[in-house]
Amino acid sequence: MENKKQLSLEKISELEPSYFELQAYWGTTKHVGGLKATRELIELCHINKGKYVLDVGCGVGITPCYLAKRYDCRVVGVDLSERMIDRSNERAKREGVEDRVEFRVADAQNLPFEDNIFDAVICESVLAFIEDKQGTVDEFARVGKPGGYVGFNEVTWIKAPPPELAEYLSRTVGAEFLTCDNGWKELLEGSGLRETVVRIYKTNALSQWVNEVRQFEFLDFLRAWYRFLFLFTKSPACRRFAKEALSMPKSIFGLFKYFGYGIYVGRK
Ligand SMILES: C[S@@+](CC[C@H](N)C(=O)[O-])C[C@H]1O[C@@H](n2cnc3c(N)ncnc32)[C@H](O)[C@@H]1O
Repeated sequence: MENKKQLSLEKISELEPSYFELQAYWGTTKHVGGLKATRELIELCHINKGKYVLDVGCGVGITPCYLAKRYDCRVVGVDLSERMIDRSNERAKREGVEDRVEFRVADAQNLPFEDNIFDAVICESVLAFIEDKQGTVDEFARVGKPGGYVGFNEVTWIKAPPPELAEYLSRTVGAEFLTCDNGWKELLEGSGLRETVVRIYKTNALSQWVNEVRQFEFLDFLRAWYRFLFLFTKSPACRRFAKEALSMPKSIFGLFKYFGYGIYVGRK
């Protein structure tokens, strides 16, 4: 069932295409490492039955619903995009976990929660899109309980990429990826988190695709393709966006020489 806020055919021409608005429209979001990375983040943050968890930048709500269903957690998901939150609510309803999850529009840099509330604060592939990364991790630490965990999963440069590759990713998806040392890992320490654990993985196109697909149900997949094709045929602005995204530097073919992901966890 399409949400009431689903764009009408007339409004599609007004859609301002950006990486996240398009993803919200077709109802998918993702992070490097897919379900495998999510499971590892859950384990390293000691999330189990009944825990109270905040997922920051929850996208279309896949991880919050998974936590509610598999671990019987109470979960709050926040995202900057209203359309992502609509998609998350649709998902919670479809998956029958509305009583255990709550979704709100909020900025990761200024979380609308009191101090010391959550057993775990997790964040998958969001910090790369935020300029004030340290201030944001400080926010995660602020809302986490003493003794609780803060964990994030982010694309991590395994070795320095060619400048045009970093520029292309910044231009098309608006992301700034970091290395582990002198980068992501320092954010944990900068927020005063202790007992830090870092795991770095290389990946490749096939394993990335397999792990992403495992997070979706088959119907999610069909729905997303249907919406993608619909949008592509109806919106000239979206076709322009796709054309721009397809003008890739040659070094994109060597992406996985440089590109991996890291799971970064610390305890408050
Ligand atoms: C790459 S998606 C990942 C979504 C989700 N965590 C997942 O793994 O499927 C990044 C998400 O971060 C959200 N986002 C970006 N900047 C944000 C901010 N300042 N505060 C909250 N959410 C933000 C975007 O709207 C998008 O849904």
